[in-house]
Amino acid sequence: MNIKSVAFRGSFKNNEQAPADGLYEFAFIGRSNVGKSSLINMLLNRKDLVRISNKPGKTQSLNYFLVNQQFYLVDLPGYGYARVSKSERKEWEVMIENYFRKRTSIACVFQLIDVRLEPQRIDIEFTNQLGEWNVPFQLVFTKSDKVSRSDAFRNVQLYFQVLRDTWAVLPHHTVTSAEKKNGREELLVVIEHIMVNQTN
Ligand code: GTP
Ligand code: MG
Repeated sequence: MNIKSVAFRGSFKNNEQAPADGLYEFAFIGRSNVGKSSLINMLLNRKDLVRISNKPGKTQSLNYFLVNQQFYLVDLPGYGYARVSKSERKEWEVMIENYFRKRTSIACVFQLIDVRLEPQRIDIEFTNQLGEWNVPFQLVFTKSDKVSRSDAFRNVQLYFQVLRDTWAVLPHHTVTSAEKKNGREELLVVIEHIMVNQTN
């Protein structure tokens, strides 16, 4: 799929305020600092369309990017950022649950996982949560340029090993590097296929 056009459509506080045009959307979620914004920039071939920061917790609301006037990529605020107050955390939980349960135009969610790490409880719990909410999702492992191929493979296998406890069918996954642009074509093909199936 070629990226012909990209437009920032807005930053929204909740599902109700997000676009109501019914276009399908692909959402990116994961631990704060895992590389959601970087991945979106990489996919769209834009250097800094989405703001990236070393400081976790940069993305606070639902950010909508209209692609090829056909679908949205949605940058969601990350989970697991330690330096937020209890009330901010609650606010995030309400917004995210509301988004995933009520948003009918979600075509697929990409849950990002740092491939450098062995399975983290917070990620596993979120994967299971997505399952409970019955949201279509895939896993995207990030920052593969930071580890050897064998370490990346090992951490992916370990993640699936944990998932096998609760999942009968394992989710599709892609290993990526925003830095090296690895996994870009693969993810764009995934998006394209889902779009074709949704609109037929
Ligand atoms: P929040 O919005 O705070 O939740 O973070 P985020 O998930 O959007 O992460 P972001 O894209 O802002 O990236 C966080 C940091 O990781 C930045 O310093 C990025 O440059 C770095 N980073 C992201 N992806 C990669 C990657 O593939 N390789 C390397 N080496 N660094 C990356
Ligand atoms: Mg971000």
